[in-house]
Amino acid sequence: MCVKSLVARSALLICHLHPARRKARAVAAAEALGLLHDLGASAPAGGPLAERGGLFWVALPGDAGSRAARLPRLGYTAAVDLLEPAPSRPPPARGRRAAADPGSVRWRGQPYRLVRLWAEDAAALRERAPDRRVFALETAGGQVRQVRGYRGDGGPLGRRGLPIGDARLLVNLTASAPAGPFLDPFAGIGGIVLEALASGRRVLCCDVDPALRHGLAATGARHCVADARRLPFGAGTIAAIATEPPYDRAAEGAVLGALADLARVLAAGGRLAILCAAWQAAGLRRAALDLGLAPSLDAPLDRKGTEVVVLAWQRV
Ligand SMILES: C[S@@+](CC[C@H](N)C(=O)[O-])C[C@H]1O[C@@H](n2cnc3c(N)ncnc32)[C@H](O)[C@@H]1O
Repeated sequence: MCVKSLVARSALLICHLHPARRKARAVAAAEALGLLHDLGASAPAGGPLAERGGLFWVALPGDAGSRAARLPRLGYTAAVDLLEPAPSRPPPARGRRAAADPGSVRWRGQPYRLVRLWAEDAAALRERAPDRRVFALETAGGQVRQVRGYRGDGGPLGRRGLPIGDARLLVNLTASAPAGPFLDPFAGIGGIVLEALASGRRVLCCDVDPALRHGLAATGARHCVADARRLPFGAGTIAAIATEPPYDRAAEGAVLGALADLARVLAAGGRLAILCAAWQAAGLRRAALDLGLAPSLDAPLDRKGTEVVVLAWQRV
């Protein structure tokens, strides 16, 4: 489709990647397409300001301004502009230079204006961060303590909370699932659970560690203490699963074993997204192939020096 008709028939969104995720363009685009899937979103390969880097583009049929309400759910995008055709400006008087207008852009010879639809509220995001949250943790003596800023037990199977951007990414990668419950089977201290609840999902969660049961139940999700290899749900009853299993090598068997049960409980058309340690990815890819899951995303990510991979599939 030519540029003019693309902008005329659809709204073109310029999505600015979160600075910490500048290299994760394909992942961020997959996330945005997941979140906006029911609006007929597509991701053109190029667009205005490409020379700046750190951007991707989303085309939405019809009027996007009225559909901006969902954008604050994005995890890997920090701001979104709408590209609007602008009237040509008269040339400056002789001997004068045209004043620079940061809201104007020329693209393929045409003038456009950038209208900011949404920008991340860094302070509000900071308040939701795992190290600010209060979590009810059961101690070895059976007492329940309200712990602020719980960062995990420091053990190899640690339950530290996932940063909000990554939790939102996983939730959005499963957003095109059919209607039905969302599950995090390795729920930890509920980073993914909270973002799924905030996006309006009906959320179930499990963790094998009973010390987390009060805190996870307090999120508003339906929680049960369970091993992800033996989930207490019927076959085909879960529409979407997003999770971050333990990265430790001691958990390798549990993580690979869990995939079979995740595939069992996932409904036809259901979506599964996993953030795993890079070394776990090969085993998960192979197991998913054997289980008949269709891959939709497979991308490495560098999370402050920890090499991880985001994998997503659909149950066909
Ligand atoms: C990396 S943490 C998840 C953190 C979570 N994404 C969050 O944001 O809070 C992994 C969790 O998996 C749990 N776990 C380990 N083995 C398990 C198993 N076999 N079944 C279910 N949960 C398990 C651990 O207790 C731990 O809480």
